[in-house]
Amino acid sequence: MSSHEKNIGFQEEKLARYIADHSQEEDPLLSELSRETFLKIYHPRRASTRFSGHLLAMFSSMIRPEKILEIGTFTGYGAISMAKGLAEGGMLHTIEVNDELEDLIRKWIEKAGLGNNITLHIGDALEIIPQLNETFDLVFIDGEKNQYQDYYKVVIDKVKSGGFILADNVLWSGKVVDEKIPAKDHFTRGIREFNKMVQEDERVDNLLLPAYDGIMIIRKA
Ligand SMILES: C[S@@+](CC[C@H](N)C(=O)[O-])C[C@H]1O[C@@H](n2cnc3c(N)ncnc32)[C@H](O)[C@@H]1O
Repeated sequence: MSSHEKNIGFQEEKLARYIADHSQEEDPLLSELSRETFLKIYHPRRASTRFSGHLLAMFSSMIRPEKILEIGTFTGYGAISMAKGLAEGGMLHTIEVNDELEDLIRKWIEKAGLGNNITLHIGDALEIIPQLNETFDLVFIDGEKNQYQDYYKVVIDKVKSGGFILADNVLWSGKVVDEKIPAKDHFTRGIREFNKMVQEDERVDNLLLPAYDGIMIIRKA
């Protein structure tokens, strides 16, 4: 490694510390949830983190949604973060296909005092969403990467006019522009096709925000 590269690494570390020092600290309840996720759950890095969770909470607080839908709960970090921005009496629906996570998710929803504001659905989002008799101000797509297009298709008619969809991981660690990725990599292909579909959808305005692993912000006209 050249001294120039070493310096870049040092600057990045310094910047990361600077960013952390100039952002509100993590909610202690969420850091406890994060610790339990890392101790007990397979693939803990799938969960939202201090910064990405805080960004979700900020978006939600700006929108003040009455109804939120999350696709892919995992251990509940994102759901609890977004629920903070709900309008008075609002409701967040979150869907998780892995029933082994149910007890843990319910425990943390209760600990966060959000039992009346979060409805957990256990099952496949593609089957559950068509049965939900709701329209949403904010949708967070964060399930399986090869299913993003399908989630979008089932949810778009349930988003209110002026409502938002956020889709996570749309840069997929930069693989979206890597020409060496084999065609059989269905996650990369799924994300690329999703991004293209949104870009071509005239019903929406969209911005690919290069934060974290890429967040597609979609506003329905
Ligand atoms: C990246 S994690 C979600 C992280 C969570 N949104 C957060 O902010 O911490 C993806 C989750 O989606 C779930 N999932 C995958 N396919 C699904 C589907 N078809 N319906 C519901 N959940 C799904 C996975 O089991 C996994 O727990």
